[in-house]
Amino acid sequence: MNSGCIMKWSWMNFRLLFAVLCCSLSAAFASELSSSNSESADIVATRLGRGVNVLGYDKYWQQSGGGRFRLDHFAKIRKVGFATVRVNLFTFRHFGQDGRLNEEWLRKLDAVIVSATASGLNVILDVHDFSECGKAPDACSALLKIIWGQLSSRYVDYGGNVLFELLNEPNNALTVEKWNELIPDLLKIIRRNDPGRYVLISAANWGKVESLDSLKLPVEDRRIIVTFHYYSPYGFTHQGAPWAAAPVSTNIGLRFGSEADVAQVQSDFARAAQWSRVNNRPLFLGEFGAYDKAPRADRLFYLRTVARTAERFGISWAVWQFSGDFVVYDHTRDDWVGDVVDALIPK
Ligand code: BGC
Repeated sequence: MNSGCIMKWSWMNFRLLFAVLCCSLSAAFASELSSSNSESADIVATRLGRGVNVLGYDKYWQQSGGGRFRLDHFAKIRKVGFATVRVNLFTFRHFGQDGRLNEEWLRKLDAVIVSATASGLNVILDVHDFSECGKAPDACSALLKIIWGQLSSRYVDYGGNVLFELLNEPNNALTVEKWNELIPDLLKIIRRNDPGRYVLISAANWGKVESLDSLKLPVEDRRIIVTFHYYSPYGFTHQGAPWAAAPVSTNIGLRFGSEADVAQVQSDFARAAQWSRVNNRPLFLGEFGAYDKAPRADRLFYLRTVARTAERFGISWAVWQFSGDFVVYDHTRDDWVGDVVDALIPK
C-alpha cells in the first residue's frame, strides 16, 4: 500500500466515521428531544391530578353580578385536595361587534386565573361553545381562530400551570373531517403566540372513548394532552336530566354497581389507555359524573369507580362539576357535599 493509498483510505474512513458519528448523534439527539417532549406532556398530564369543572353556568360572568362562585372558593378547592380546575368558558357570547372578546369579561377571566393559580391550582381554559359549533361549524371555526388568537396572546406570560383546551366535545355538524382539519389551524395560531403552551384536544363525536380512534393530530407537536369524557352508561348518569332525550330524561331509578357495570368501566378505560400507548399521547379525563337524580349510593359508587379506575390507568381527571348540577359543592351551605368529595378524594 503506498502512502497515497493510505491517505485515501484514512480520509474515506474518517468521512465514514464522521458520517456514522453525526448520524448517531443526531438520532440520539432527536430521540432525546422527542422522548423529553413526550415525557413532559406525560408529566404535565400527571400533574393535573384530580380536578373539578368550575364556573361554566355561574352568574359570576354576568356584568350585573349575582354569581354564587367567589374567587376564594379556589383556596377551598385546593385545600380539599383538588389540583386542577377546568374553567368552562362560553366565549362566543362575549365576543363583540368590534371583533374582540369583551374586555370586562376578560378581566374577570384574568381574576379567575390569578386567584386559582395563586391557590396552587392548574387552570385549564376550556372553550365550551360546543352547542354552537355542533350546529354551525364554519362560523364556529372562524370564531375559534380569532378567539384563540386573542386568548393565546393575552395569556402568553402566564405560567405552565395554565393550559388551553381548544373546544369542549366537538359534535354533530362539526364532523370528524372538519374538526381534524381545524385542529392544526388552531394550533398554528396558538403556537405563533405561545409555542410552549400545553393544549388539550378532544376528539370529534363528543370526545368519547370510542371517538379517540378518529382523532388526527400534528405529529411534530408534542405539547398536546388528549382529553376525553366519560358518562357511560348514559342512561344511568343522565337519568332525569332535562336536557337528555327521552326516555333518559324520564327513566329514573336506574342502578349502577353490578360486577358487569364495573367490568365495563374497566374495559372502557383499558381501551383509552391502549389508545394512549399506541399513539404516544397522554390522556386527561375532562368530565365524568352522574346527575343528582341518580340513586345516591349508586351515584357515589359510580364516582368512586370511575375516579379510581382512571387513576389505576394513570389518567388524571376533572369531575363534572363544582356547582349547578352534578354538584360537588353546596352553595346554600357554602360547603362541600361531604360524601361526594369523599368518593372522589379518599381520605
Ligand atoms: C355540558 C353540560 C352538561 C354536562 C353533562 C357538559 O359538557 O356543558 O351542560 O350538564 O356536559 O351532560
